Amino acid sequence: MPLLNRAADMVPEITLWRQDLHRHPEVLYAVHRTAGVVADKLRAFGFDTVTEGVGRTGVVGELHGRNGPGGRRIALRADMDALPIQEIAEVPHKSTVPGAMHACGHDGHTAMLLGAARHLAETRAFDGTIVFIFQPAEEGGAGARTMLEDGLLERFPFEEVYGLHNMPGIDVGRFAIRPGAMMASADVFRIEIEGRGGHAAKPQTTIDPVLVGAHVVMALQSIVSRNADPLSAAVVSVTQFHAGDTNNVIPQTALLSGTVRTLDPAVRTAVEARVRAVAEATAAVYGARADVTYTPGYPVTVNDPEATRLAADVARAVVGPGQVTETADPMMGAEDFSYLLEKRPGAYIFMGNGPSAGLHHPAYDFDDGAIAYGVSWWVALAERLLAR
Ligand code: NI
Repeated sequence: MPLLNRAADMVPEITLWRQDLHRHPEVLYAVHRTAGVVADKLRAFGFDTVTEGVGRTGVVGELHGRNGPGGRRIALRADMDALPIQEIAEVPHKSTVPGAMHACGHDGHTAMLLGAARHLAETRAFDGTIVFIFQPAEEGGAGARTMLEDGLLERFPFEEVYGLHNMPGIDVGRFAIRPGAMMASADVFRIEIEGRGGHAAKPQTTIDPVLVGAHVVMALQSIVSRNADPLSAAVVSVTQFHAGDTNNVIPQTALLSGTVRTLDPAVRTAVEARVRAVAEATAAVYGARADVTYTPGYPVTVNDPEATRLAADVARAVVGPGQVTETADPMMGAEDFSYLLEKRPGAYIFMGNGPSAGLHHPAYDFDDGAIAYGVSWWVALAERLLAR
Protein backbone atom coordinates (compact mmCIF):
# COMPACT_ATOMS: atom_id res chain seq x y z
CA MET A 1 0.00 0.00 0.00
CA PRO A 2 1.60 3.30 -1.06
CA LEU A 3 0.81 6.64 0.48
CA LEU A 4 -2.81 6.42 1.50
CA ASN A 5 -5.03 8.53 -0.80
CA ARG A 6 -7.38 9.24 2.05
CA ALA A 7 -4.46 10.47 4.15
CA ALA A 8 -3.50 12.88 1.39
CA ASP A 9 -7.12 14.06 1.20
CA MET A 10 -7.20 14.71 4.94
CA VAL A 11 -3.90 16.65 5.01
CA PRO A 12 -5.41 20.18 4.80
CA GLU A 13 -7.69 19.47 7.75
CA ILE A 14 -5.02 17.70 9.82
CA THR A 15 -2.70 20.63 9.10
CA LEU A 16 -5.30 22.95 10.66
CA TRP A 17 -5.46 20.68 13.75
CA ARG A 18 -1.64 20.66 13.96
CA GLN A 19 -1.34 24.43 13.66
CA ASP A 20 -4.10 24.96 16.22
CA LEU A 21 -2.19 22.76 18.69
CA HIS A 22 0.96 24.69 17.83
CA ARG A 23 -0.72 27.99 18.71
CA HIS A 24 -1.76 26.62 22.11
CA PRO A 25 1.21 24.74 23.56
CA GLU A 26 0.92 23.24 27.03
CA VAL A 27 3.80 21.80 29.03
CA LEU A 28 4.19 18.66 31.14
CA TYR A 29 0.89 17.55 32.72
CA ALA A 30 -0.94 20.82 32.05
CA VAL A 31 -2.15 19.63 28.64
CA HIS A 32 -5.79 20.32 29.54
CA ARG A 33 -6.87 22.03 26.33
CA THR A 34 -4.92 19.59 24.15
CA ALA A 35 -6.38 16.55 25.91
CA GLY A 36 -9.85 18.07 25.55
CA VAL A 37 -9.36 18.55 21.81
CA VAL A 38 -8.13 14.96 21.46
CA ALA A 39 -10.99 13.45 23.49
CA ASP A 40 -13.64 15.49 21.62
CA LYS A 41 -12.28 14.38 18.28
CA LEU A 42 -12.09 10.71 19.25
CA ARG A 43 -15.72 10.85 20.41
CA ALA A 44 -16.73 12.62 17.19
CA PHE A 45 -14.97 9.89 15.17
CA GLY A 46 -17.22 7.32 16.88
CA PHE A 47 -14.64 5.64 19.13
CA ASP A 48 -15.95 2.78 21.25
CA THR A 49 -14.46 4.19 24.43
CA VAL A 50 -12.76 7.49 25.25
CA THR A 51 -11.24 7.89 28.72
CA GLU A 52 -9.75 11.14 29.95
CA GLY A 53 -7.59 11.72 33.00
CA VAL A 54 -5.47 8.58 32.63
CA GLY A 55 -2.14 9.36 34.30
CA ARG A 56 -3.50 12.79 35.31
CA THR A 57 -4.12 14.26 31.83
CA GLY A 58 -3.61 11.39 29.37
CA VAL A 59 -6.35 10.28 26.98
CA VAL A 60 -6.99 6.69 25.90
CA GLY A 61 -9.35 5.76 23.09
CA GLU A 62 -10.35 2.23 22.14
CA LEU A 63 -11.43 1.35 18.62
CA HIS A 64 -12.85 -2.07 17.82
CA GLY A 65 -12.57 -3.61 14.37
CA ARG A 66 -15.41 -4.65 12.09
CA ASN A 67 -16.24 -7.66 14.26
CA GLY A 68 -16.43 -5.78 17.52
CA PRO A 69 -14.38 -6.39 20.65
CA GLY A 70 -12.32 -9.55 20.99
CA GLY A 71 -9.18 -10.65 19.22
CA ARG A 72 -5.77 -9.05 19.33
CA ARG A 73 -5.17 -5.68 20.95
CA ILE A 74 -2.41 -3.28 19.92
CA ALA A 75 -1.50 0.23 21.09
CA LEU A 76 -0.42 3.34 19.16
CA ARG A 77 1.02 6.21 21.15
CA ALA A 78 1.49 9.97 20.62
CA ASP A 79 2.84 12.60 23.02
CA MET A 80 0.92 15.88 23.52
CA ASP A 81 3.17 18.17 25.57
CA ALA A 82 5.20 21.23 24.54
CA LEU A 83 8.38 22.77 25.98
CA PRO A 84 9.13 25.84 28.14
CA ILE A 85 10.87 27.65 25.26
CA GLN A 86 10.08 31.05 23.74
CA GLU A 87 9.34 30.58 20.05
CA ILE A 88 11.39 32.85 17.74
CA ALA A 89 10.19 31.83 14.25
CA GLU A 90 7.59 34.20 12.79
CA VAL A 91 5.28 31.48 11.49
CA PRO A 92 1.57 32.27 11.01
CA HIS A 93 0.70 29.66 13.62
CA LYS A 94 3.25 30.96 16.16
CA SER A 95 2.68 30.07 19.80
CA THR A 96 0.29 32.40 21.60
CA VAL A 97 1.67 31.35 24.98
CA PRO A 98 4.72 33.32 26.15
CA GLY A 99 7.58 31.02 27.10
CA ALA A 100 6.01 27.85 25.71
CA MET A 101 6.15 26.25 22.27
CA HIS A 102 5.90 22.95 20.46
CA ALA A 103 9.66 22.66 19.89
CA CYS A 104 9.68 18.86 19.62
CA GLY A 105 6.84 18.36 17.15
CA HIS A 106 4.44 16.69 19.56
CA ASP A 107 1.74 18.87 17.94
CA GLY A 108 2.46 16.99 14.72
CA HIS A 109 2.54 13.61 16.48
CA THR A 110 -0.85 14.24 18.09
CA ALA A 111 -2.43 15.56 14.87
CA MET A 112 -1.14 12.62 12.78
CA LEU A 113 -2.38 9.99 15.23
CA LEU A 114 -5.76 11.77 15.29
CA GLY A 115 -5.81 11.63 11.49
CA ALA A 116 -5.11 7.90 11.57
CA ALA A 117 -7.77 7.49 14.27
CA ARG A 118 -10.36 9.15 12.09
CA HIS A 119 -9.57 7.03 9.05
CA LEU A 120 -9.46 3.78 11.02
CA ALA A 121 -12.76 4.66 12.73
CA GLU A 122 -14.41 5.28 9.36
CA THR A 123 -13.10 2.14 7.68
CA ARG A 124 -12.56 -0.35 10.52
CA ALA A 125 -10.72 -2.59 8.07
CA PHE A 126 -9.16 -4.64 10.84
CA ASP A 127 -10.01 -7.26 13.44
CA GLY A 128 -9.35 -6.74 17.11
CA THR A 129 -8.92 -3.52 19.05
CA ILE A 130 -6.60 -0.53 18.70
CA VAL A 131 -5.74 1.35 21.89
CA PHE A 132 -4.84 4.97 21.13
CA ILE A 133 -2.63 6.49 23.82
CA PHE A 134 -2.22 10.27 23.98
CA GLN A 135 0.18 10.99 26.79
CA PRO A 136 1.21 14.09 28.73
CA ALA A 137 4.64 15.04 30.07
CA GLU A 138 7.01 13.25 27.71
CA GLU A 139 9.48 16.11 28.15
CA GLY A 140 10.98 15.18 31.50
CA GLY A 141 7.80 14.32 33.38
CA ALA A 142 7.62 10.58 32.64
CA GLY A 143 3.99 10.83 31.54
CA ALA A 144 4.07 7.32 30.08
CA ARG A 145 5.13 5.92 33.46
CA THR A 146 2.37 7.87 35.21
CA MET A 147 -0.18 6.38 32.81
CA LEU A 148 1.19 2.89 33.53
CA GLU A 149 0.95 3.59 37.28
CA ASP A 150 -2.66 4.63 36.69
CA GLY A 151 -3.44 1.16 35.34
CA LEU A 152 -3.00 1.75 31.61
CA LEU A 153 -2.17 -1.91 30.94
CA GLU A 154 -4.84 -3.34 33.23
CA ARG A 155 -7.62 -1.02 32.09
CA PHE A 156 -6.74 -0.97 28.38
CA PRO A 157 -4.71 -4.14 27.75
CA PHE A 158 -2.51 -4.41 24.67
CA GLU A 159 -0.01 -6.91 23.37
CA GLU A 160 2.24 -4.60 21.36
CA VAL A 161 2.91 -0.86 21.32
CA TYR A 162 4.30 1.51 18.68
CA GLY A 163 5.54 5.10 18.67
CA LEU A 164 6.79 7.63 16.13
CA HIS A 165 8.96 10.75 16.38
CA ASN A 166 9.75 13.31 13.72
CA MET A 167 13.45 13.89 13.08
CA PRO A 168 15.07 17.03 11.63
CA GLY A 169 17.96 16.22 9.32
CA ILE A 170 16.15 13.26 7.76
CA ASP A 171 14.33 14.10 4.52
CA VAL A 172 10.54 14.35 4.62
CA GLY A 173 9.18 11.06 3.29
CA ARG A 174 11.95 8.98 4.83
CA PHE A 175 11.84 6.73 7.90
CA ALA A 176 14.68 5.45 10.10
CA ILE A 177 14.66 2.74 12.72
CA ARG A 178 16.92 0.10 14.27
CA PRO A 179 16.38 -3.05 16.31
CA GLY A 180 17.59 -2.96 19.90
CA ALA A 181 18.58 0.30 21.60
CA MET A 182 17.12 3.25 19.71
CA MET A 183 17.53 5.92 22.38
CA ALA A 184 19.55 6.18 25.56
CA SER A 185 18.79 6.00 29.25
CA ALA A 186 19.23 9.35 31.01
CA ASP A 187 20.05 9.39 34.72
CA VAL A 188 21.12 12.25 36.97
CA PHE A 189 23.73 12.16 39.73
CA ARG A 190 24.50 14.64 42.45
CA ILE A 191 27.62 14.39 44.59
CA GLU A 192 27.91 16.46 47.76
CA ILE A 193 31.47 16.58 49.03
CA GLU A 194 31.90 17.42 52.66
CA GLY A 195 35.40 18.59 53.58
CA ARG A 196 36.56 20.93 56.32
CA GLY A 197 36.53 24.64 55.62
CA GLY A 198 39.08 27.11 56.90
CA HIS A 199 41.55 29.87 56.13
CA ALA A 200 42.95 29.66 52.61
CA ALA A 201 46.42 30.47 54.01
CA LYS A 202 46.31 27.47 56.36
CA PRO A 203 45.37 24.56 54.06
CA GLN A 204 46.97 22.08 56.48
CA THR A 205 44.04 22.67 58.85
CA THR A 206 41.41 22.02 56.18
CA ILE A 207 40.10 19.28 53.93
CA ASP A 208 39.69 21.10 50.65
CA PRO A 209 36.47 20.03 48.88
CA VAL A 210 37.55 21.89 45.72
CA LEU A 211 40.62 19.71 45.35
CA VAL A 212 38.61 16.61 46.22
CA GLY A 213 35.91 17.58 43.74
CA ALA A 214 38.50 18.07 40.99
CA HIS A 215 39.85 14.56 41.65
CA VAL A 216 36.33 13.15 41.61
CA VAL A 217 35.65 14.79 38.22
CA MET A 218 38.83 13.26 36.84
CA ALA A 219 38.24 9.85 38.37
CA LEU A 220 34.69 9.70 36.96
CA GLN A 221 36.23 9.87 33.47
CA SER A 222 37.73 6.44 34.07
CA ILE A 223 34.29 4.83 34.10
CA VAL A 224 33.65 5.23 30.38
CA SER A 225 37.29 4.73 29.37
CA ARG A 226 38.16 1.79 31.69
CA ASN A 227 34.95 0.14 32.95
CA ALA A 228 32.56 0.26 30.00
CA ASP A 229 32.93 -2.07 27.04
CA PRO A 230 34.38 0.05 24.20
CA LEU A 231 31.68 -1.35 21.92
CA SER A 232 28.83 -0.24 24.16
CA ALA A 233 28.09 3.45 24.39
CA ALA A 234 28.12 5.34 27.67
CA VAL A 235 28.35 9.01 28.60
CA VAL A 236 29.31 10.36 32.03
CA SER A 237 29.24 14.17 32.02
CA VAL A 238 29.83 16.36 35.07
CA THR A 239 27.86 19.46 34.19
CA GLN A 240 27.91 21.43 37.45
CA PHE A 241 30.66 22.12 40.00
CA HIS A 242 29.76 24.61 42.72
CA ALA A 243 32.04 25.51 45.63
CA GLY A 244 33.24 28.53 47.49
CA ASP A 245 32.24 32.20 47.62
CA THR A 246 35.46 34.13 48.01
CA ASN A 247 39.26 34.07 47.57
CA ASN A 248 40.60 33.58 51.06
CA VAL A 249 38.39 30.79 52.32
CA ILE A 250 38.59 27.09 51.66
CA PRO A 251 34.93 26.11 51.59
CA GLN A 252 33.33 23.40 53.65
CA THR A 253 31.49 21.70 50.80
CA ALA A 254 31.45 21.26 47.05
CA LEU A 255 28.57 20.12 44.87
CA LEU A 256 28.97 18.21 41.63
CA SER A 257 26.18 17.04 39.39
CA GLY A 258 25.79 15.61 35.94
CA THR A 259 24.18 13.06 33.67
CA VAL A 260 24.74 9.44 32.66
CA ARG A 261 23.58 8.10 29.28
CA THR A 262 23.75 4.48 28.18
CA LEU A 263 22.27 2.23 25.48
CA ASP A 264 22.19 -0.98 27.50
CA PRO A 265 20.39 -1.64 30.79
CA ALA A 266 23.33 -3.73 32.08
CA VAL A 267 25.82 -0.96 31.30
CA ARG A 268 23.48 1.49 32.99
CA THR A 269 23.46 -0.53 36.23
CA ALA A 270 27.24 -0.95 36.13
CA VAL A 271 27.87 2.77 35.54
CA GLU A 272 25.65 3.73 38.46
CA ALA A 273 27.61 1.43 40.78
CA ARG A 274 30.91 2.88 39.56
CA VAL A 275 29.76 6.51 39.97
CA ARG A 276 28.95 5.77 43.60
CA ALA A 277 32.13 3.80 44.30
CA VAL A 278 34.49 6.20 42.51
CA ALA A 279 33.07 9.30 44.19
CA GLU A 280 32.96 7.82 47.68
CA ALA A 281 36.40 6.22 47.53
CA THR A 282 38.09 9.23 45.90
CA ALA A 283 36.71 11.52 48.59
CA ALA A 284 37.82 9.10 51.29
CA VAL A 285 41.40 9.16 49.97
CA TYR A 286 41.57 12.85 50.94
CA GLY A 287 39.68 12.49 54.20
CA ALA A 288 36.48 13.96 52.81
CA ARG A 289 33.06 12.39 52.45
CA ALA A 290 30.98 12.12 49.28
CA ASP A 291 27.22 11.72 49.43
CA VAL A 292 25.98 10.40 46.10
CA THR A 293 22.37 10.77 45.06
CA TYR A 294 21.67 8.84 41.88
CA THR A 295 18.28 9.48 40.32
CA PRO A 296 17.22 7.13 37.54
CA GLY A 297 15.58 8.94 34.61
CA TYR A 298 14.16 7.47 31.42
CA PRO A 299 15.26 3.88 30.66
CA VAL A 300 16.87 2.77 27.40
CA THR A 301 14.35 2.73 24.53
CA VAL A 302 14.72 -0.83 23.22
CA ASN A 303 13.03 -1.85 19.97
CA ASP A 304 11.87 -5.44 19.67
CA PRO A 305 13.59 -6.97 16.58
CA GLU A 306 10.43 -8.45 15.10
CA ALA A 307 8.34 -5.34 15.71
CA THR A 308 11.14 -3.28 14.17
CA ARG A 309 11.13 -5.42 11.03
CA LEU A 310 7.38 -5.02 10.75
CA ALA A 311 7.47 -1.25 11.36
CA ALA A 312 10.16 -0.87 8.69
CA ASP A 313 8.25 -3.13 6.30
CA VAL A 314 5.15 -1.00 6.67
CA ALA A 315 7.22 2.16 6.12
CA ARG A 316 8.68 0.64 2.94
CA ALA A 317 5.18 -0.12 1.72
CA VAL A 318 4.21 3.52 2.31
CA VAL A 319 7.25 5.41 0.97
CA GLY A 320 9.20 2.85 -1.06
CA PRO A 321 12.11 0.61 -0.12
CA GLY A 322 14.83 3.19 -0.81
CA GLN A 323 13.33 5.62 1.68
CA VAL A 324 13.65 3.50 4.82
CA THR A 325 16.79 2.93 6.89
CA GLU A 326 16.64 -0.09 9.15
CA THR A 327 20.15 0.43 10.57
CA ALA A 328 19.82 3.96 11.93
CA ASP A 329 22.35 5.09 14.51
CA PRO A 330 20.91 5.18 18.02
CA MET A 331 20.55 8.58 19.66
CA MET A 332 21.89 9.48 23.10
CA GLY A 333 18.77 11.51 23.83
CA ALA A 334 16.12 9.83 25.96
CA GLU A 335 12.43 9.16 25.44
CA ASP A 336 9.77 8.02 27.88
CA PHE A 337 8.22 5.63 25.33
CA SER A 338 10.90 3.39 26.87
CA TYR A 339 8.58 2.73 29.85
CA LEU A 340 5.96 1.26 27.50
CA LEU A 341 8.60 -0.84 25.71
CA GLU A 342 9.71 -2.21 29.08
CA LYS A 343 6.20 -3.64 29.49
CA ARG A 344 5.34 -4.77 25.97
CA PRO A 345 7.27 -5.50 22.77
CA GLY A 346 7.02 -2.86 20.10
CA ALA A 347 9.01 -0.30 18.16
CA TYR A 348 9.75 3.40 17.97
CA ILE A 349 10.45 4.91 14.55
CA PHE A 350 11.89 8.23 13.31
CA MET A 351 10.17 10.06 10.47
CA GLY A 352 11.98 12.78 8.49
CA ASN A 353 11.20 16.42 9.27
CA GLY A 354 13.53 17.79 6.57
CA PRO A 355 16.01 20.64 7.08
CA SER A 356 14.12 22.27 9.95
CA ALA A 357 15.80 23.63 13.06
CA GLY A 358 16.68 20.87 15.50
CA LEU A 359 14.41 19.45 18.16
CA HIS A 360 14.11 21.75 21.20
CA HIS A 361 15.43 24.72 19.19
CA PRO A 362 13.39 27.98 19.47
CA ALA A 363 13.07 28.14 15.66
CA TYR A 364 11.93 24.53 15.26
CA ASP A 365 8.62 23.79 13.51
CA PHE A 366 6.96 20.53 12.56
CA ASP A 367 6.83 20.12 8.76
CA ASP A 368 3.21 19.69 7.68
CA GLY A 369 4.52 18.11 4.48
CA ALA A 370 5.22 15.01 6.57
CA ILE A 371 1.64 14.55 7.76
CA ALA A 372 0.54 12.27 4.90
CA TYR A 373 3.49 9.95 5.54
CA GLY A 374 2.90 9.70 9.27
CA VAL A 375 -0.85 9.11 8.93
CA SER A 376 -0.31 6.50 6.22
CA TRP A 377 2.28 4.69 8.33
CA TRP A 378 -0.02 4.56 11.36
CA VAL A 379 -2.98 3.29 9.33
CA ALA A 380 -0.96 0.71 7.42
CA LEU A 381 0.73 -0.45 10.62
CA ALA A 382 -2.57 -0.97 12.45
CA GLU A 383 -4.15 -2.77 9.50
CA ARG A 384 -1.09 -4.99 9.11
CA LEU A 385 -0.94 -5.88 12.81
CA LEU A 386 -4.63 -6.61 12.95
CA ALA A 387 -5.16 -8.20 9.54
CA ARG A 388 -7.82 -10.88 9.75
NI1 NI B 1 9.88 14.75 21.50
